[in-house]
Amino acid sequence: MATTGSEAVLPIREGEKKPSSEQQIDPWDVQAGHDENGNALAFDYAAISQKWATKLIDDALLERFERLTGHKPHRWLRRGLFFSHRDFDRILDRYEAGEPFFLYTGRGPSSDALHLGHTIPFSFTKWLQDVFDVPLVIMLTDDEKALFKEKLTFEDTHKFALQNAKDIIACGFDLKKTFIYSDLEYISGHFLMNVWEFSKLVTFNQVRGAFGFNESTNIGRIMFPAVQCVAAFATSYPEIWADEPAKERTKALAKIPCLIPMAIDQDPYFRLVRDNAHRMKNPSPKPALIHSKFLTALQGAGGKMSASDPNSAIFMADTPNQVKASPRCPIHQNKINKHAFSGGRETLEEHRELGGIPEIDVAFQYLSYFEDDDEKLKKIEDGYRSGELLTGELKKMAIELIQGYVKDFQARRKEVTDDLLKQYMTPRKLEWKGNPNPKPK
Ligand code: TRP
Repeated sequence: MATTGSEAVLPIREGEKKPSSEQQIDPWDVQAGHDENGNALAFDYAAISQKWATKLIDDALLERFERLTGHKPHRWLRRGLFFSHRDFDRILDRYEAGEPFFLYTGRGPSSDALHLGHTIPFSFTKWLQDVFDVPLVIMLTDDEKALFKEKLTFEDTHKFALQNAKDIIACGFDLKKTFIYSDLEYISGHFLMNVWEFSKLVTFNQVRGAFGFNESTNIGRIMFPAVQCVAAFATSYPEIWADEPAKERTKALAKIPCLIPMAIDQDPYFRLVRDNAHRMKNPSPKPALIHSKFLTALQGAGGKMSASDPNSAIFMADTPNQVKASPRCPIHQNKINKHAFSGGRETLEEHRELGGIPEIDVAFQYLSYFEDDDEKLKKIEDGYRSGELLTGELKKMAIELIQGYVKDFQARRKEVTDDLLKQYMTPRKLEWKGNPNPKPK
């Protein structure tokens, strides 16, 4: 299993001292743990995987993926940014057998612009779509965000959803194979029927623990998990499979599973659907999941990039200079504590003599997420470790890579018109090939 060195202990920013605490991860609250001195600890992903009984992605799984698809695993798989899964191997079984499946992912539109961290699951999903050649649905939970954020109205979040959809399209999705929808606009008919049917299977007791609800929680929030859950059923989107869904097709559609790329904090939703999918009138298989880490280590431990804190993120609309010079750029935050955020040494002489420590270096983490060339990365790692390369040089390389990623995004974003947005968001039959060469097992 590839690691990214994010297990290192990093201090939090000044003035943010907190008493010793355990990490807290659920769909609405993601916080690192703290030691007794109030220092934020990096997220312990092995612990969360163990606690929730997910499987870690190992080399054997990645080798099988490469053998079946003929594609080298994405660098975010090779380098452990996507680190955990449920039943990804079953999706590979289906791919091997030439059986259909689809991709499903989503975003809660809580602000009008995406930051770098938001684009990671989408860029990764776009790559999966290219590799597998399967249909993809993208859910924008404008209902959820207005229910869970006191200050936001349904009008606000709906507006954000449409804005965010343009940024999501700029991640490069194939129009023929992609349907993007706003919950507030789309949910009706088969989808709504599934929501109600599912809600009837789940009690308050079952959701209160997983989602932190209590008797004072508004009933919209309590209901919402049913919405995000049934989005994993193929029967919620009869339009994408055929022009005219015949009733008798519903049973067959229900059997088509999906693969859901997501950050690990969304797992509680999909445990719920995995526990109950077989109880639907038209029983469905458990959806498969693939989990990513947060971009926390890039920012410094103790938080993740957050759109509501402009100082914590690189936005996809930033100019190259903003990426480079702004204190927003997490790479620059290593000024705060040289030893912790940067693996470099106190003085140049010391660095040349002892070498740097890539495992705890934020700039090196960026490099590992954005430099695709394994050999080049290894050279950088070795050079840093030996003291030949300096922290400043690593930072410069990392910034250039991110500037390139943002620039490519912006070029595609310019092409996204209102008309194109409308096409992606129109329910319609999608077109895909699936695996053209199924191999016998
Ligand atoms: N609840 C998610 C959020 O707040 C949005 C979402 C809906 C999602 N469906 C999903 C995310 C599926 C990942 C996968 O961001």
